[in-house]
Amino acid sequence: MNYSRITQCAHYVPEKIIHNDELATMIETSDEWIYQRTGIRQRHVVTDENTSDLCANVAQQLLTKRGIEANQIDFILVATVTPDYQMPSTACLVQGLIGANNAFAMDITAACSGFVYALSMADKLIQSGNYQRGIVIGAETMSKVIDWTDRSTAVLFGDGAGGVLLENTETKHILAENLQSDGSRANSLTAGFTNNQSPFFKGDLLGNQYLEMDGRQIFDFALKDVSKNICHTMAQLDNQTIDYVLAHQANKRLLDAMAKKTKLPREKFLDNMEFFANTSAASIPILLSEAVEKEILTLNSKQQILLTGFGGGLTWGSLVVKL
Ligand code: ACO
Repeated sequence: MNYSRITQCAHYVPEKIIHNDELATMIETSDEWIYQRTGIRQRHVVTDENTSDLCANVAQQLLTKRGIEANQIDFILVATVTPDYQMPSTACLVQGLIGANNAFAMDITAACSGFVYALSMADKLIQSGNYQRGIVIGAETMSKVIDWTDRSTAVLFGDGAGGVLLENTETKHILAENLQSDGSRANSLTAGFTNNQSPFFKGDLLGNQYLEMDGRQIFDFALKDVSKNICHTMAQLDNQTIDYVLAHQANKRLLDAMAKKTKLPREKFLDNMEFFANTSAASIPILLSEAVEKEILTLNSKQQILLTGFGGGLTWGSLVVKL
């Protein structure tokens, strides 16, 4: 049988850090308001890099850590809603940057659920038996889709990238999964509307290029639908054991509420939004890579972790991964 396993992970964030206090000099807000409502103190933002640069750094780290060449990679999947271009895909740019000549490459768009969706797709590619080894990255430059004059959204997001190397193995490591979407609630979180500037177009041109969010609706969605999804995913497990939950890093209060709702101990929910803010598709792989660096998680240790993404679409989903 062909199964997939995470054999390496890595992350990269741009050097520039914006602390809440610095934001308070730009818009009417305060460190106290932001930290109390979200658990965020600072975020990293790009100054001269784009999403593909962050990804290429992660991909190169994965190759170096594993001691393999770029031409041994069969596919590259990049989950992002902030690509360099609509065409070519960010994944193709990364392929070119690292010289992964034998890989096919494509982007996956599922907002803050992007990494979980991409990891699930990568698992199926490896299960097909046609591909041995792939790179899966979640990466965002949210700074380019944020309206920096809108205090209700500008304080929430950061830039960064994280990823894993996924390889063929004989035993099952992705133990359970449950991916969901609801397009009827698409308007509660949007970014990057493209105006049609064709001389023939007669429709409404008033779409917003910047990120817009109904914060309360997203909070309720995450608490109700995502908590239910976590419980249903865990119910698929024989032993029901979860060592840690790596949930999308939107908001610390949300994780507190989710822990209560799912009846999982709060200590099992890792968090790092204090230092990185919400990095959308990058938040879960950055959290994973940091936890491995800090030796909270160990690859090949048989620890069972639950990854849960949720975001625009609406999209949400969980995977239980045995390390
Ligand atoms: N600084 C100071 N005051 C602010 C700020 C700010 N940055 N932003 C909003 N306010 C003010 C508002 O103007 C409002 O003032 P008013 O009462 O005088 O009108 C007051 O604070 C309350 O505003 P709300 O928007 O109602 O604040 P809320 O308590 O809902 O908190 C938050 C906002 C933190 C975004 C919350 O809705 C939330 O946690 N949502 C969860 C969703 C989330 O985190 N989304 C992130 C991205 S989406 C994703 O990743 C899936």
